[in-house]
Amino acid sequence: KESQGHISVVLLGATGDLAKKYLWQGLFQLYLDEVSSGHSFTFYGAALTEPEPGKLLMFEVLKKLACPPDVDPNRCVVVKDQFLKLSQYRQLKTSENYTTLNQDIKTLLQQEGLEEAGRIFYFSVPPFAYMEIARHINSSCRPRPGAWLRVVLEKPFGHDYESAQQLATELGTFFLEEEMYRVDHYLGKQAVAHILPFRDHNRKLLDPILNRHHVERVEIVLKETIDAKGRASFYEHYGVIRDVLQNHLNEVLMYLAMELPANINHSEEVLRNKLQTFKLLQGLEKTSAVIGQYQTYNSQVREELQKADNYFSMTPTFAGVLFQIDGLRWEGVPFVLASGKALDERTGYVRVLFKNRAYCTQSETLRDARWSQCKPKQIVFYIGHGELNSPAVLVSRNLFKPTMPEGSWREVSDRPQLRLFGQPLSDYYAYYPVKEREAYSSLISNIYHSKRDSFITTENMLASWEFWTPLLDGLAQQAPRLYPGGQENEHLLDFEMVGREVSFTLQEPVEVLSAGGG
Ligand code: BG6
Repeated sequence: KESQGHISVVLLGATGDLAKKYLWQGLFQLYLDEVSSGHSFTFYGAALTEPEPGKLLMFEVLKKLACPPDVDPNRCVVVKDQFLKLSQYRQLKTSENYTTLNQDIKTLLQQEGLEEAGRIFYFSVPPFAYMEIARHINSSCRPRPGAWLRVVLEKPFGHDYESAQQLATELGTFFLEEEMYRVDHYLGKQAVAHILPFRDHNRKLLDPILNRHHVERVEIVLKETIDAKGRASFYEHYGVIRDVLQNHLNEVLMYLAMELPANINHSEEVLRNKLQTFKLLQGLEKTSAVIGQYQTYNSQVREELQKADNYFSMTPTFAGVLFQIDGLRWEGVPFVLASGKALDERTGYVRVLFKNRAYCTQSETLRDARWSQCKPKQIVFYIGHGELNSPAVLVSRNLFKPTMPEGSWREVSDRPQLRLFGQPLSDYYAYYPVKEREAYSSLISNIYHSKRDSFITTENMLASWEFWTPLLDGLAQQAPRLYPGGQENEHLLDFEMVGREVSFTLQEPVEVLSAGGG
């Protein structure tokens, strides 16, 4: 195939945890997918470590790269060998290091007679290192004019509105908006990335009922069994709202709540509609949230951060937040977002519960008066959080039979491990991805294809912080209620929604949030 140009990928933090666990595998998958695309590649793993030990560490990781189950093993071995040959380690510390890298890329292009298509710099490093790296890239490592630059950034993107804005302004001095790809790995999870395609495929049946007339409530939940042990210095500063709700759960909510774009493949349109929905979120009050902390958290913090015996952490490790969205579509519909560490199970889902009677009347005649027999009607997107919990989409059989994007999801009826809110799996149409893919591999592919709506734009990030900061400020002086942690929390998140009120069984008395309105 005729050459489409050369791409240099630089992974900064090449021997860190994220790189070891996901990023190299994602880059290898990219190479497997694109090796015949006409593009040629070089992969540079970079870190502060000296060249020899750094190279050794990096190649230990690369040698262990796994062949994806859907790739012919013989082909995989050959491609992996090529991938290793195209990968090299770089110590990137000083400005000379960056200048040399730039020079080496240019020399390679010249020697091979290749035209440069673009460069990807993946920042898998702590945010305090961002500015220096950004400065070096901007001053001495940009691609030739006409080729593209993509820099990939990992959260946290600030701590509140002000710090996020400052970070954005500083990065904005080095990079253009379209050059920045801010990762929220939840947007790479298959079930999450499938929410818009699902809505689009079932537009005629779903769109008319995805609104306040038909939806009883929406729940977006991420329960974790792990706690914050070993991460106290990060967690104590952030807490569950900043760690998970402000980004992962809020982004998932947007895919479900935003107006469906006419063309979901137009990144700009998707991003625009998402931003419009951000503007419709009703401000959160202190009373819109319930916060908790698992009982052993405080002693973990004292130990890890060497705090005095009288230190009491106010950081929440659990939060339930009640959202409302203005506008014709969602006014009055409660959206419950909840997440916690040290809970009894690991699961994550988006659950849209439909008003039963209202919707029953569409298929069953009023004369019939069989309303009470209408079973719950819901759509559940399982995010695939946890080993037993592969991504899945479930639709109540008495709602409608969905159509799914060709070749990507298949109907399966024998996965009883899913938590089905007390109902038999036979009551659902259940779909699973044909090929399971790691979130980071999908995101790396999306960076390559410049699918910008899978990433967080500056406007999106600021809109989110603008929304969350008043609540975070309001809660700063509020002590979270304690919960035991582990199996004893079985019912912590079995919140009950009665009328417009949701209650969480944290500690006596039960905490109640009221949805008001509608
Ligand atoms: C991360 C948070 O962003 O997401 C972690 O910092 C959390 O605290 C994790 O555990 C959850 O992601 P996943 O992919 O394990 O569901």
